[in-house]
Amino acid sequence: MLRSIKVVLNGVERTVDVEDHWTLLWLLREKLKLKGTKHGCDRGDCGICTVLVNNTPVKSCLVLAPEVNGAEILTIEGLAKEGSLAPIQKSFIEHSALQCGICTAAFVLTGHWLLQQGDGVDRKRVAEAIDGILCRCTGYRQIIEAIVDAARKK
Ligand code: FES
Ligand code: FES
Repeated sequence: MLRSIKVVLNGVERTVDVEDHWTLLWLLREKLKLKGTKHGCDRGDCGICTVLVNNTPVKSCLVLAPEVNGAEILTIEGLAKEGSLAPIQKSFIEHSALQCGICTAAFVLTGHWLLQQGDGVDRKRVAEAIDGILCRCTGYRQIIEAIVDAARKK
């Protein structure tokens, strides 16, 4: 059944028609054409579909679109402001924390969320936060350093 939901998507209020069986991942990529959110396993294993819902990292393939009615959603497309990359994005570039890039939006958004959680962002805390997001290229070291360094400079 088609139903209308309201969301604040990347800071903009939107009303969208969704089918009950659509996932949030499907809504973002296929309906709204926000391809920065990546489609991997579709069953909660890889984490590369992670976005922030009400400022919490969520695997968007595990959430049905009607469930986000009334929510604030941040995808990678909403992170840069007025053409300026967010600090966490700059840190990923400075630390060469990406290779093929398919996992990058998920790690960047999770890092962005962690930076909002207050002080004490150390390697252990970052490792816990990114647990559940898979990267086949980098070996995680640069990703962890990028997030820790962004927190240190905050
Ligand atoms: S696509 Fe969502 S966890 Fe893999
Ligand atoms: S950079 Fe390729 S999977 Fe992470």
